Amino acid sequence: MTLSHLCFNMEKDDEKMNKQLRKTVIAGNWKMNKTPSETTTFVSELKDKVSGADCEVVICVPFVDLQNAIAAAKGTNIKVGAENLHYEKSGAFTGEVSADMLKDLGVEYVVIGHSERRQYFNETNLSVNKKVIAALEAGLKPIVCVGELLEEREQGITEEVVSLQTKIALMGVSSSDMKNIIIAYEPVWAIGTGKTATAEQADEVCGIIRGVISKLYNNDVAESTTIQYGGSMNAKNASELLGKYHVDGGLIGGASLKSEDFSIIVSAAK
Ligand code: PGA
Repeated sequence: MTLSHLCFNMEKDDEKMNKQLRKTVIAGNWKMNKTPSETTTFVSELKDKVSGADCEVVICVPFVDLQNAIAAAKGTNIKVGAENLHYEKSGAFTGEVSADMLKDLGVEYVVIGHSERRQYFNETNLSVNKKVIAALEAGLKPIVCVGELLEEREQGITEEVVSLQTKIALMGVSSSDMKNIIIAYEPVWAIGTGKTATAEQADEVCGIIRGVISKLYNNDVAESTTIQYGGSMNAKNASELLGKYHVDGGLIGGASLKSEDFSIIVSAAK
């Protein structure tokens, strides 16, 4: 065996070890789907299907479904997340929900800065940052979404866009808080379109995000941060995407609404 072979194999072994150190998280993002009673039925169907999971299993559901989701998931390995929150602690913000309210209910995760919220509800990198800080202060685990538009990919600025989103989202986040943060790379052109990023594209951009975290903090923090891919992940393509070095899980929209499909994705996370 030549020296270069030996070095290559050593690097591969290091990669394997680093990937094993990271928590794989498969999270459903229901968006505006399912009523509270449908939530109870869904969780009772899902729980046996994922009871042997090798990864963290999370369902992020509409505010009104949280209570039923938490009750139905009690005593199982299914964790519950919200899809949004307000960054203020309390006050005159009609229709909004605070991090403390979610925490008190028993919510563990919260999706922040999803592209639909950036697109339809005017969320910006700065408001995403405020929400991340509010979530961490309340003891919630943020799933922070970043990702480029199709025009940005075509213009060759994916790296700049995703790096900027990541850097701003993490302003004021300490390295010890980073263990509670998940970044979800979701190319906007792949969300709900059936157009999945190739496993190589997903791995490349998740790797870019890991590089940004390494520069902001250090290599250890970067190597232990969970970075998910999201965008038309489904029962068929999950195992190829999840097999990539930098892809530590998935944020799944459409395919998380059927317990059978979602549980196949969970089993692909080995
Ligand atoms: P999708 O949505 O899986 O339906 O593309 C992913 C997401 O928006 O998180």
